[in-house]
Amino acid sequence: MDVKTPNMAGTAMRPVGLIIRQKDPNNLEMPFDQLGDFITQSELFYIRSHFPAPELDVNSCRLSIRGAVRHELSLSYADIRAMPSRSSIATLECAGNGRVFLVPPAPGAQWELGAVGNAEWTGVPLAALLDRAGLTEEVCELVLEGADRGVPKEEPKPPGPISYARSIPKKRALEPDVLIAYSMNGQELTLDHGYPLRAIVPGHYGMASVKWLTNIVATTQPFHGYWQTSDYGYWDDSSGTPVRRPLAEMKLKAQIARPRVYETLEPGRSYTIFGAAWAGGTDVTEICVSLDGGSSWVQGHFLDPISRNAWRRWKYDWITPTRPGHYTLLARARGADQSFQPDRHNSNFGSYVIDHPLPIEVFVTEPSSTAVQNRANAKV
Ligand code: MTE
Repeated sequence: MDVKTPNMAGTAMRPVGLIIRQKDPNNLEMPFDQLGDFITQSELFYIRSHFPAPELDVNSCRLSIRGAVRHELSLSYADIRAMPSRSSIATLECAGNGRVFLVPPAPGAQWELGAVGNAEWTGVPLAALLDRAGLTEEVCELVLEGADRGVPKEEPKPPGPISYARSIPKKRALEPDVLIAYSMNGQELTLDHGYPLRAIVPGHYGMASVKWLTNIVATTQPFHGYWQTSDYGYWDDSSGTPVRRPLAEMKLKAQIARPRVYETLEPGRSYTIFGAAWAGGTDVTEICVSLDGGSSWVQGHFLDPISRNAWRRWKYDWITPTRPGHYTLLARARGADQSFQPDRHNSNFGSYVIDHPLPIEVFVTEPSSTAVQNRANAKV
C-alpha cells in the first residue's frame, strides 16, 4: 500500500532487527516504532514460540486429517501445494502483547508493543481439506496440532511433554479465510514462522495460528488441552459463576508507534503521531488520540481502508506544546459494532488481552535555541 509513513524521512527502510524477549526458543518482537508499510516485512514480524522450532523434512512430513471424518487424509507438502490457493491479509497479535505495561508486573514474556504484525498469508483454505475429509455431523471443533513438543511452564502443568495444540470451532474452521498456509508475504514460510505449513486464523489472537502443523483432528467434544485452559484461557463471569474459556478473537486495540516512549520532542513543532489499530470480529471505524493523559480526545485519520482482520494505520498531525514538560499520549479505537477499548485491563484475562489505551509518555524540551544558549551559559 503506497501511503507515505510519517516521521520516517531519511530513515533507511531496511529492517532494523528484532528485540529479544527470550533467546531459546526464539521469542522476538518488532521495535514498534519501526512501523512502516501496511504489510510488515517478514524480517520484522514478531516470533512467539513455546518450544524449539522442529526441523521438518518437507519431502517426508505429512499433514494428517483424522478423528470424526469419513475419509482420513495424509497429505504431503506437494499435495497441499498442488491444490488451489488463496491469500488473506491478516494481523496477528500475541495475546500477551503489551504485558510490560501491566502494573503490578505480570509473569510471562515482557512484550512491549511489537508482538503484532500484519502479513499476507497464502495457502489452502482449511475448508477445502475438511471437505475432502468429510466431517461427520457431530463434529464441533477442529484441533490443530504442531510438531513442536515440550513441557510447558505455567501451572497447572501436564505430567510430561506435549505438543502445541489449539482448537477452533467448526463454524470458524469452515470459513474460507482460514488457511493452511505455506507462504508469508510471497515467500516460503521461514522456520520460525512455521515452515513448512501453519494455520492462519484471521481475527483470532496469534495462539490460534498453529505453526509446524502436522495433525488436524475433528472432535465431537470441545477440546480442553493445555493451551485452551491453563494457558491462553480466561475467566468468563458473565453468567455469575466464572468459567474458564479459551481466548479467541482479538479485542479492539490501537497502538502508538511514534513518538516512542520517553521520546524527547521540540516544543511548538509539527509532529505526526502515527500508529495502527486492529480488531477481530469487527472493523475499526474510528481512532481518537489524547495528548493530555486521557482528559480530552481528538480524532485521528486512517491511512488504510477497512480490510477485515487487517490493521489500519492512522495518524494525527500534532503541534507539540510550547510549554516544556512531560506529556502522556494515548490512542483509542472504536469498532463498527460500537465497541470501544476499556479504560483498564480486565483482570479476568490474567496476563493476556492488554487492550486498554497504553500510555506513551514523552518529554517536550525547551526550544533548542534556548537549550543551546543555556548550555553555553552553563559553560561560562
Ligand atoms: N504454533 C506452535 N506449533 N507452537 C507455538 O509455540 N505459538 C503461537 C502461534 N502458533 C506457537 C504456535 C503463538 S502464542 C503465537 S502469538 C503465534 O504462533 C506467533 O506466530 P509467529 O511466531 O509466526 O509470529
